[in-house]
Amino acid sequence: MTTSNQSKTEKLAAIRAAIIDQQITPELAATATNLVMGDGNPDADIVFIGEAPGKNEDQQGLPFVGAAGKFLNEMLASVNLNRQDVYITNIVKYRPPNNRDPLPEEKKAFWPFLIRQLDVINPAIVITLGRHSMEYFLPGKKISDIHGQPKRIQFGERKLVIVPLFHPAAALYNGGLRQTLVDDFASLPRIVELTKQSE
Ligand code: URA
Repeated sequence: MTTSNQSKTEKLAAIRAAIIDQQITPELAATATNLVMGDGNPDADIVFIGEAPGKNEDQQGLPFVGAAGKFLNEMLASVNLNRQDVYITNIVKYRPPNNRDPLPEEKKAFWPFLIRQLDVINPAIVITLGRHSMEYFLPGKKISDIHGQPKRIQFGERKLVIVPLFHPAAALYNGGLRQTLVDDFASLPRIVELTKQSE
């Protein structure tokens, strides 16, 4: 089969295979149970990008299935979306030991594979969850200054709208941040509508 008539699912599976073949972050791979690639609809207009899998994600092989994932699902439902309407992934695809922050070199190692995922899915909007995925799309920006604000960027050949949001895990136990995230989520339908109008 040629690359051009491979389905999106096959292309995403090939990216997964490349991460394993090329032994990306072998130290993380050695302690992880699963490589967590993504979940949801490969034809989605919206892709959410978190940080790295946690314990539950590592065990189940799916992103955002623990407490932060439950909160993410609730916020999706609040704007009439569910996980099958969007695609959800992380910048780093293996769980860092003891849920430590991913290292700069780990994010750098996985970045080309994230780009390949976006090339296949071809979303109009990328929603970054937390600063780890934001900093790659909007370098030098502070999440506290720009959360919830859509930013147009030129991304390779394409234009992309980035919406930086706080990470649901950070908002879970911080009432103020939680309300900010809920409010930012409430503005997503309008951002999606405006993005579609301007395409
Ligand atoms: N936090 C993340 O950033 N990603 C997950 O998949 C789970 C928790």
